[in-house]
Amino acid sequence: MIKIINETTDYLKGKGFDNPEIGIILGTGLGQLVNEIEILHEVSYNHIPNFPTATVEFHKGKLIYGILEGKKIMVMQGRFHLYEGYSLQDVTFPVRIMEKLGIKTLLVSNAAGAINTNFKKGELMLLDDHINLQGDSPLAFMGVEHLGERFVDMSAPYNATINSKFKTIAKNCGITLHEGVYASVLGPQLETRAEYRMLKIIGADAVGMSTVPEVIVANHLKLQVAAVSVLTDECDPDNLQPVDITEIIEMAKKAEPNMITLFRDLIKSL
Ligand code: HPA
Repeated sequence: MIKIINETTDYLKGKGFDNPEIGIILGTGLGQLVNEIEILHEVSYNHIPNFPTATVEFHKGKLIYGILEGKKIMVMQGRFHLYEGYSLQDVTFPVRIMEKLGIKTLLVSNAAGAINTNFKKGELMLLDDHINLQGDSPLAFMGVEHLGERFVDMSAPYNATINSKFKTIAKNCGITLHEGVYASVLGPQLETRAEYRMLKIIGADAVGMSTVPEVIVANHLKLQVAAVSVLTDECDPDNLQPVDITEIIEMAKKAEPNMITLFRDLIKSL
């Protein structure tokens, strides 16, 4: 693993990915943040040695290096999901690469279903904590101790200072930003009414199919982490409407301007 990490980082350094400070993972329908970046370099995932290949069609699948609000940033446009058939080591490999290149902070966005009935579609939720229901860990492999400690502390996986900055920005900009617990499931099927009911009982406010593996690895690497969900559908088991993936993507797009404002202002403040 160390050898392949070095091979990939050497390749990206050669492509001009020079000491990024902040890494960003852009989720479903949130790709427009790239229009705000002064892009210096970009490479498609399928050209990067050892990178998993992008498969989900609505993800463009590239790494971008550039400047945003005066900060050197690195962006994953499109992420890998466990439901696409990758292993969790594949899914989180880019986080290890971004850390090796120099990032100290990882910001993550995703699309999620609202479990908390006070949260409405189109609104945003800051992750305060999570529940890993993917049935696996990105740290469960032989040799993990060579990359960081095996028994990673998860008592505060999301950075309190960044989260309070996010909340201040949201307040100042008049953006509704809930705070809550994100449950990650494997997918790709959406949940049944009984599953949504269970998620509510165990304390989830939102549910999605990503983010948690990357956050676990970011904690393994001692990065500061924050994540924001766009709530794309309402998962009330007693009044469940059939969901349609195009509607989910549309909802994510609708919330995109607010997400961009939050991320821009946050990066400015770091
Ligand atoms: N469940 C799981 N993942 C999701 C959902 C959902 O309801 N909405 C968006 N991503």
